[in-house]
Amino acid sequence: MPTEVLERAQSELLDWQGSGASVMEVSHRSKAFVETKRRAEESLRRLLGISDSYRVLFLQGGASQQFSSIPINLAGPGDVVDQLVTGQWSKKARAEASRYVDVNLVASSESSNFTTIPDVAMWSWSSGAAYCHYCPNETIGGLEFDFVPVTEAPLVADMSSTILSRPIDVDAFGVIYAGAQKNIGPAGLCIAIVHNDLLGRARTDAPSTLNWTLAAENESMYNTPPTYAIYLAGLVFEWLEHRGGLVAMEAVNRQKAEMLYSLIDQSDFYSNPTEPRYRSLMNVPFTLARPELDALFLEHAEQESLLNLKGHRSVGGMRASIYNAVEKSSVEALCDFMHRFEQQQA
Ligand SMILES: Cc1ncc(COP(=O)(O)O)c(C=O)c1O
Repeated sequence: MPTEVLERAQSELLDWQGSGASVMEVSHRSKAFVETKRRAEESLRRLLGISDSYRVLFLQGGASQQFSSIPINLAGPGDVVDQLVTGQWSKKARAEASRYVDVNLVASSESSNFTTIPDVAMWSWSSGAAYCHYCPNETIGGLEFDFVPVTEAPLVADMSSTILSRPIDVDAFGVIYAGAQKNIGPAGLCIAIVHNDLLGRARTDAPSTLNWTLAAENESMYNTPPTYAIYLAGLVFEWLEHRGGLVAMEAVNRQKAEMLYSLIDQSDFYSNPTEPRYRSLMNVPFTLARPELDALFLEHAEQESLLNLKGHRSVGGMRASIYNAVEKSSVEALCDFMHRFEQQQA
């Protein structure tokens, strides 16, 4: 979370807008909260350039819940859907969708340990798929598409770890969804941007709380929404707008990522296996040449307040997640530490 946002939330915690109460204490149907949610949505629409052809839904349950909500909302039993598998998250999304629909595996990079995107010429499409699902940025492997796949079926993208890191062309997608806890706000909130044409397709037995159409009809208030998370997301959107929006964020994010990758590439001590073209802007995994030093690396990093560098438990090694709220100066401090640590081990 950006420090300025946390400071603002802190200053408003006990007395929000002079109401004498916290945002957490007011009704989600109060005029003040409804207005806050409306402003958050308007700000997100400006940032991403979302047209009236799309609904913005504030949902609960994280991105994982959408792995089930997507087939439930877009396909009936017996329908075929296309899925690309380029890392742990898209693999999980495929497994979950398989519980509801027939999944055609368009392409997988598992045999390369998810270090590349399979050649588009080799992709195998199904005919008449209800949608095509992929994950533009795989958080664990640090693998990011540098293009948007062209599909006949509506394209559904899990943008949990890339949304708001750079401008995107929303019109290329049928559905964009993202768990909030990277570039949006606190965990528990998930945002879905759904093309109007894709509403009204939910299975008849869809649980009401997972039904996008019900969510849209009820302005994301079919049941009580995560009000504090929405309030904080609105503050993050405002912060992004003050920083110059997504064009400005992209420039800084590229500088941050380049600093880290060039340090890694120039060193024999650190390495990153991802094909350079597909390296993630947000998640930079790396390994040490001597894995027995992993624990020492983490301990020394922590002493310099460089936190959360342990790689995901499924892959090990290290991972620097350099989301929007991570300042360039923090990445400089990380590079400086990595350089010194390497020299100490020589
Ligand atoms: C790309 C991606 N998809 C899905 C998820 C799962 O999100 P959640 O834990 O909010 O369900 C994550 C979590 O980090 C993620 O990075």
